[in-house]
Amino acid sequence: MLAFINSFHSFMFPCLSFVTFTTFSVLCQVFQRNDITAYQGVKEPAAMNTILGELQKSNRNWRFAISEPLQRANTTTPEHFGFVYRSDRLVLSGLRRYNDVGDRFHRDPFSALIVSPYSSIPRFALTTVHLFHLNIIYEMGLIPELFKTVSNDYSANVLFAGDFNAGSPFMTRCQYNNLTVTTDPTYDWLIDFNQDSATWTNMTTSWARFLAAGKQLVAASSNANGHVINMMKEYGLTEEQPDIVLFWYLVFQSTESLAGLADL
Ligand SMILES: *[C@@H]1O[C@H](CO)[C@@H](O)[C@H](O)[C@H]1NC(C)=O
Ligand SMILES: *[C@@H]1O[C@H](CO)[C@@H](O)[C@H](O)[C@H]1NC(C)=O
Ligand SMILES: *[C@@H]1O[C@H](CO)[C@@H](O)[C@H](O)[C@H]1NC(C)=O
Repeated sequence: MLAFINSFHSFMFPCLSFVTFTTFSVLCQVFQRNDITAYQGVKEPAAMNTILGELQKSNRNWRFAISEPLQRANTTTPEHFGFVYRSDRLVLSGLRRYNDVGDRFHRDPFSALIVSPYSSIPRFALTTVHLFHLNIIYEMGLIPELFKTVSNDYSANVLFAGDFNAGSPFMTRCQYNNLTVTTDPTYDWLIDFNQDSATWTNMTTSWARFLAAGKQLVAASSNANGHVINMMKEYGLTEEQPDIVLFWYLVFQSTESLAGLADL
């Protein structure tokens, strides 16, 4: 058995007043596929209690952790990040908002330490990000410093998960190929530039990503056989369903993708 680690962000997630029964049920199914999910874009933290209540109907132990609003003080749209996880499979601790001296990130990264006997790397940090599309090259350039901080705080191996906006139209391939996190072998993108990791059918983008950092994690992930799961197809959703906007950016990484990381 393998542990899953996924990541997604959607515009309205989770904001139950906007969620239909179908969407709610799909969201719960999505969480249930994973041992841990990192998510961004939460507007209504209380909605997580409702989702947790649903997850706990299964005979597994579920918990979630959620951040305070992480957006820049002078922006009004609240955005929380969080993790939903199976507490029978892993321990999640040390939640921390990145101390963004100089207010350089539009939304501050949010990290935790993951400890799991089921993982071949039993301790690693998980950092979730939602980089600002209008300042993407700059924020990408901050990741090496972020990695240094997170690895000092938690573990030399860090998995970044989230919406990096690392694709068209916010970033060209040429710009992408020139990023330190692309050229430096300390890092390894688990989803490539040409992969489609958004659920929109009208465009191909690789905004949502996983970025492995640190020797053991990079070695493990380079042996992995991951793929992005198309949620629209998987759950028979159509873009015409108004609530499906919720699934914009929704991305999945299969168990196999982190086979080296967590081979249970
Ligand atoms: C918000 O803060 C950032 C960085 O501190 C600054 O660059 C930006 O111009 C500010 N925006 C507004 C609307 O004041
Ligand atoms: C590549 O990145 C460096 C800084 O890391 C920058 O000075 C240079 O302009 C970039 N080149 C391109 C083509 O983006
Ligand atoms: C794709 O569709 C979305 C939702 O209708 C729209 O907001 C976006 O601008 C479209 N993108 C392109 C490239 O047409």
